[in-house]
Amino acid sequence: SLNEKIDIIKKHIKVYPDFPKRGVLFRDIFSVLLEPEIFQILKDVIVEIAKDIKRKNDYNCVVGLDARGFILGPLLALELNLPFVPIRKVGKLPGDTYQIKYQLEYGEAICEIQKDSIKPGSKVLIVDDLLATGGTLEAARQLVLLSGSSVVACFIIMELADLAGRNKVQAPVESILQF
Ligand code: PRP
Ligand code: ADE
Repeated sequence: SLNEKIDIIKKHIKVYPDFPKRGVLFRDIFSVLLEPEIFQILKDVIVEIAKDIKRKNDYNCVVGLDARGFILGPLLALELNLPFVPIRKVGKLPGDTYQIKYQLEYGEAICEIQKDSIKPGSKVLIVDDLLATGGTLEAARQLVLLSGSSVVACFIIMELADLAGRNKVQAPVESILQF
């Protein structure tokens, strides 16, 4: 069942205390990819839930966030026969871009999207591995808006519920695992 599959995924996410700094419990999605059987289960789960979201709230474009949103975003886009568009940290994308500055736990960062990437008027699903403070996801949502499109939903594998990041994001958030 879906719940059994989700339990298997949860067991395979390796946790690293004090990375990248003291007090952070780092949850490493790449540990799931080490075993093809477990990666397949993750793929099946995200495809099933993404199709569910699509039935409720149709979207026609998948946007993935640098860097771990590039694992599952393209898989999902291919499976659903939709375009995949990357949002990257500043300085990595060629051509004209839109930029948004956002807050990190300490300091700030800038992310970018290519101006000619999302077809204007698209209905977008944003995907990433993890939601912490929500700063990254909300910046991504604003880049989609600058591109002349709208965010139908955000789809995240792991949500750090205590940080209440979803409250910062002005779009519906669906997560598979809550910590
Ligand atoms: C992580 C994670 C999310 C973001 C969530 O990426 O993959 O994209 O943090 O944090 P937030 O909700 O507080 O904004 P990170 O910025 O560490 O970069 P990486 O993917 O390059 O490792
Ligand atoms: N990004 C922000 N917080 C994180 C955490 N606890 N584990 C993995 N990635 C993160």
